[in-house]
Amino acid sequence: MAASAAAKVHEVREITRIERIGAHSHIRGLGLDDSLGPRHVSQGMVGQLSARKATGIIHAMIKEGKIAGRAVLLAGQPGTGKTATAMGLAQSLGQDTPFTSMAGSEIYSLEMSKTEALTQAIRKSIGVRIKEETEIIEGEVVEVQVDRPATGVGAKVGKLTLKTTEMETIYDLGNKMIDSLIKEKVQAGDVITIDKATGKINRLGRSFTRARDYDATGSQTRFVQCPEGELQKRKEVVHTVSLHEVDVINSRTQGFLALFSGDTGEIKSEIREQINAKVAEWREEGKAEIVPGVLFIDEVHMLDIESFSFLNRALEDEMAPIVIMATNRGITRIRGTSYISPHGIPLDLLDRTIIILTLPYEEKELKEILKIRCEEEDCEMADDALTVLTRIALETSLRYAIQLITTASLVCRKRKGTEVSIEDVKRVYSLFLDQHRSTQFLKEYQDDFMFSESPDQVPSTQPMDVA
Ligand SMILES: Nc1ncnc2c1ncn2[C@@H]1O[C@H](COP(=O)(O)OP(=O)(O)O)[C@@H](O)[C@H]1O
Ligand SMILES: [Mg+2]
Repeated sequence: MAASAAAKVHEVREITRIERIGAHSHIRGLGLDDSLGPRHVSQGMVGQLSARKATGIIHAMIKEGKIAGRAVLLAGQPGTGKTATAMGLAQSLGQDTPFTSMAGSEIYSLEMSKTEALTQAIRKSIGVRIKEETEIIEGEVVEVQVDRPATGVGAKVGKLTLKTTEMETIYDLGNKMIDSLIKEKVQAGDVITIDKATGKINRLGRSFTRARDYDATGSQTRFVQCPEGELQKRKEVVHTVSLHEVDVINSRTQGFLALFSGDTGEIKSEIREQINAKVAEWREEGKAEIVPGVLFIDEVHMLDIESFSFLNRALEDEMAPIVIMATNRGITRIRGTSYISPHGIPLDLLDRTIIILTLPYEEKELKEILKIRCEEEDCEMADDALTVLTRIALETSLRYAIQLITTASLVCRKRKGTEVSIEDVKRVYSLFLDQHRSTQFLKEYQDDFMFSESPDQVPSTQPMDVA
């Protein structure tokens, strides 16, 4: 069951691949050197040095794989790179560590309860590394010799001569093996493996020494080296699957096809208990180990008190992942209560959380980020235009300035220009309002709008939720 799920690609990578130029597609890692020191500009990451260094330490902790059930909070104003940092961490962790990314609001799905949604997210973030050792025979075929009984009936017997660069052995063949050799069309010069447990034959290709017979073999042929060393080898195969994948495959109502449709629905708790027991057994026998991964909950203030309490409890589980949260909230109400708490997170959860702050960028850093985004969006921009755009980022927001890149480049293309100029940037700046100017406009003309409230109820420049 593990093998079929192993092919599944991790969530985050899938998403970045689809959004070729998504908001964070320029980020390829945390940009740290070997001693976890942040390079000023590296792997698409700019500045925010101490937050990146701190995240680098978290990375090292995760890679150690020994600790789990910790919570980290990335806190800072909108547009200070919280989500970007988490994506950088996901990239630098690589394939083998599960990383699940969700927004706090995702738990309010109609298809399953909030706790089920959280449980699935948690179990997607825990990997099970399953080790299997198999014995194989690997060699180049020197000769296949099959003797048919003179009467034409009865069992066939035969001999298979295999060699490596160092040795050559003759194996006696039984009926079944002869049939598989014939079925696989194995002939002298092929390099093959035979699984000793199952007898399965696998043709790896033609030996290079036979490359001269090329004309006779056709252009589809793959040439491989004659294997070295012993003919018999032990080979270890390792798959990493998430606990959630194991759950889905084993829940009878779903079957593994659910993995492809993504439509998994709720999973019964008995199934999870059985899986936990099975995995514990595999661990005892040394067949499997747990790889605690990362659950990233962006906009975590969107969780309500019940979810926070569930999360708090889940962190105490032996197989808990590391939970990384991000929020742009200050001291505010916890959703679902009238209590006020820092970041809108209950104190008992905050108490077990380490907090990484992200700070507003300086002009130089904004310029660097915008430059990287221009490259990412294939936009040539004149240096003075970039300087103006940087000023805009400083006075409005980084996100707004990033939005202007593609729009300005379209305006430039329309006038058949090759490089975005100051004029193009000014043009889009006046065409598209930032939030501050828009609010200003609403305040001035609010009487003309439907459903307007009194002027002091119009939100100030305090930003709303941003992803
Ligand atoms: N240090 C950084 N290096 C490179 N790009 C960044 C950095 N910080 C933010 N960005 C980019 O700026 C935009 C806004 O940042 P984001 O991570 O969404 O902010 P937050 O999540 O803190 O509100 C995104 O496109 C992000 O990729
Ligand atoms: Mg964000």
